[in-house]
Amino acid sequence: MTKKTDFPYLHGFSETEQQRLRTQAEFAEHSVYQNINFSGVKKILEVGCGVGAQSEILLRRFPRLHITGIDLNQKQLDAAKSFIGSIPSAQGRFECQEMSADNLKFEANSFEGAFLCWILEHVPNPAQVLSEVRRVLRPGSEIVITEVMNSSFFLEPYSPCVWKYWMAFNDYQYDHAGDPFIGAKLGNLLTQVGYHQVKTEVKTWHFDNRQPDQRRQTIQYWTELLLSAADKLIEEKYVDQDIVTKAKEELQRVANDPNAVFMYSFMQASARVYY
Ligand SMILES: C[S@@+](CC[C@H](N)C(=O)[O-])C[C@H]1O[C@@H](n2cnc3c(N)ncnc32)[C@H](O)[C@@H]1O
Repeated sequence: MTKKTDFPYLHGFSETEQQRLRTQAEFAEHSVYQNINFSGVKKILEVGCGVGAQSEILLRRFPRLHITGIDLNQKQLDAAKSFIGSIPSAQGRFECQEMSADNLKFEANSFEGAFLCWILEHVPNPAQVLSEVRRVLRPGSEIVITEVMNSSFFLEPYSPCVWKYWMAFNDYQYDHAGDPFIGAKLGNLLTQVGYHQVKTEVKTWHFDNRQPDQRRQTIQYWTELLLSAADKLIEEKYVDQDIVTKAKEELQRVANDPNAVFMYSFMQASARVYY
């Protein structure tokens, strides 16, 4: 398939989407941050900081940390500034700039760590982004990346319209130069651009009758994630309204099914910079 090089961001930048990013960060905090430790670090770069949802978590968890966030979209950065600006303990510890991840306007050796969450899936040139991040990190610095692996999604009861919708969601991202399957490739990418001590971990949300509350919350979160792309997918004819309506009905059915199963795996990779 030929990849297009433009970048129409699948989720858009509406206030609903900005709130969804905050809810998503809160929802995933436990699994994303289990093995992240920036406690010995002062100055990190957050690439694709969006509305500051992860920045808030990082600043709360690591009270000595100072974050420089970059994002391609000024609306996201304005939301990030106002959100982090409202947190007393974060005063003077967060700054952000409009910048593209593949062309960082920082000197070499500017940061002691880097954090990327749900951004590489949206860029056309992830190796170039990782190479740029490596350039601006000091020797010994750690990079931590959290990314999607969308082929891992499973729902019980079987929901064919959700599945069709999900494939269209992935096709859209792939056709527009993103990569919904980038999680599995992080190890190769990091190694190819010269990082060391490359580690990858598969993180799985698997909820069944044993965790009914988490299952309900996850299905709710997932429904919001899927539907955040509906307008764009209809507008660009990847799905029609009928599929969206049926997918919604199926998700509702799964949410109410006493034997429902939800499963999704994402990936986290870490590596270090040496010269
Ligand atoms: C799904 S959001 C994730 C935001 C944040 N990391 C989080 O987890 O809440 C992806 C963000 O990446 C930004 N983005 C996409 N491509 C980018 C690029 N080439 N350079 C910088 N930011 C980019 C988008 O504007 C968006 O804010």
